[in-house]
Amino acid sequence: MVWLDQSQFDAFAAAGTNAHRLGSSSGGWAERLAEDVLLSYKSESTLADLLTGMEAYCATSGWNPARVFTRFMPTQNADRVSPELRSGDATLPLTTTVTETRIRYGLDFGAGYSHGLFLDQRLNRAKIQALRPKRLLNTFAYTCSFSVVAAQVGAETLSVDLSRKSLERGKQNLALNDLPAVGHRFVVDDTLELLPKLATRGERFDAIILDPPTFSRSANGRRWQAEHDYEELINGAIDVAATKCAVLLSTNCTKLDVMALEKMARLCIKTKRRAADYLKLGTPIDFPPGHGASALWMMVR
Ligand SMILES: C[S@@+](CC[C@H](N)C(=O)[O-])C[C@H]1O[C@@H](n2cnc3c(N)ncnc32)[C@H](O)[C@@H]1O
Repeated sequence: MVWLDQSQFDAFAAAGTNAHRLGSSSGGWAERLAEDVLLSYKSESTLADLLTGMEAYCATSGWNPARVFTRFMPTQNADRVSPELRSGDATLPLTTTVTETRIRYGLDFGAGYSHGLFLDQRLNRAKIQALRPKRLLNTFAYTCSFSVVAAQVGAETLSVDLSRKSLERGKQNLALNDLPAVGHRFVVDDTLELLPKLATRGERFDAIILDPPTFSRSANGRRWQAEHDYEELINGAIDVAATKCAVLLSTNCTKLDVMALEKMARLCIKTKRRAADYLKLGTPIDFPPGHGASALWMMVR
C-alpha cells in the first residue's frame, strides 16, 4: 500500500484540490473527497488493509474524515452497487461538493457505483484549461467535468451522453461554478450516431474528449465495446476536428494500453489524410503506475 506523504497532501490543499487519492494498492484505494473518504476494494483483506492504513494515516497527519464510505469492486459491471456508509453521521446527505483547483463538482454517494468525478482525469482536465479551446466536444460526458473546465476558460461546449441524469448533473456542475448556461449544449444521444450528424452539419471543434466506457448498450440496443469500436470513434472525431484540434483518447479497457491507442490513432489519421502529433501526460502524483485510465492526446494539425 502506498500513501500520500504530508507534503503531497499539503500541496493538494494549496492548489485548492480536496478530491484526490490518499493511498493505493493492487487490490484497492482510498479517495479523499472533501470531508469524506471512499475506500474501494476488491477483497475483504484489502478492505482490512485500507482501514488499518487509514487509521495510521489519520493518526500521523492529524486529518480525520467526517464519514468513511466503502465500495466493493466486483468483476462484473452488473454487480456494481453504490458505496455503503461505514462510519460517520448517517443523517447527513449523501451529496457533497469537492474542489479541484478551486473548481467545484457535486458528488452523490447514493447515485450508483460512481460518485461523479473521475480523479484520474485531473491532468487531462488541467490540459483543457491550458489549451483554452473555443469549442469543446465532450463525448461520453458523464457529469461533464471536462465541459466545466472548458467553460471556465471561455469555451462553448457540447456534452453528449446516453444518460439524461448525468447530463443534468453536468448542468448543476456549471451552476455550482457560477457559469451561465448560455453557450453550453447537452445532448442525450449515442456518441457514435451523433458524430456523423455533427460532421454533416459542418460542426467543428478545437478540443474533443473521447473517454468511453469499456462496454455499453444504447437505447436502440447498439452495443459499444471499446476494444472493437474505438477506431470508429477516433475516425468520427477526426471528421469534426478543426485544424489544431486536441483530441483526448482515454480508456479503462485493459486490452487497450497507450501504445495500442497511439497505433490506432496513427492509422486513423493516415486514413483520413490528416496529420497529428501525440502527447502522453502520464499519471497524476496520487496514482501509482498501472492505476488510472490509459490516455493519449492526439494533437491534430
Ligand atoms: C467512463 S464515463 C465517462 C467519464 C467522463 N469522461 C469523465 O471524465 O467524467 C462513461 C459515460 O459514457 C456514457 N455512455 C455509455 N455509452 C455511451 C454511448 N454510446 N454514447 C454516449 N454516452 C455513452 C455513460 O452514460 C457514462 O456517463
